Amino acid sequence: MNGRLAIYPGSFDPITNGHLSIVRRGLKIFDKLVVAILINPQKRPLFTLGERICMIKEALSREGDHVEVDSFDGLLVDYAVRKGSNVILRGLRALSDFENEFQMALMNRKLNRNVQSIFLMTEYKWFYTSSTIIKEAASLGGDVSSLVPSVVNHKLKEKFRQIKNT
Ligand code: PNS
Repeated sequence: MNGRLAIYPGSFDPITNGHLSIVRRGLKIFDKLVVAILINPQKRPLFTLGERICMIKEALSREGDHVEVDSFDGLLVDYAVRKGSNVILRGLRALSDFENEFQMALMNRKLNRNVQSIFLMTEYKWFYTSSTIIKEAASLGGDVSSLVPSVVNHKLKEKFRQIKNT
């Protein structure tokens, strides 16, 4: 597909309704988004890369070929160039995100001046949610069904049931 392409990178462990909202709003600006999952050997994700890819694909199935789900390691700006994009899309939540995002955007700009970072403010509904806090609530039996796509809600329950039984 030709047209404006942006990279939407993250850990997506797991994808949340906040992420989905950024993707859907991003598609009002871009023709196609690559949801790019960072492979980070230093982090121990709850979900495997394969599980995360499946959940994202299912949650974004309606977007068809406007969304590609991929993974990357190494520098994000190099990955963006490999994919033929010069835009990195990120969501911004509470003020606490700002410092980290500012630092990453400046570093990415230093590494490659042709790659632009753009930010969408999250919808107020998702202001205080994150994959981390959702996982914590779900691990303790909390109901997170209104914060994540149904496939993720189901997988969270399954994952914590498995962990409890091992
Ligand atoms: O969902 P996250 O964990 O906030 O996403 C962070 C991510 C993947 C965007 C960031 O860690 C990243 O871009 N890593 C790739 C390594 C890199 O390019 N580092 C240099 C610039 S910060």
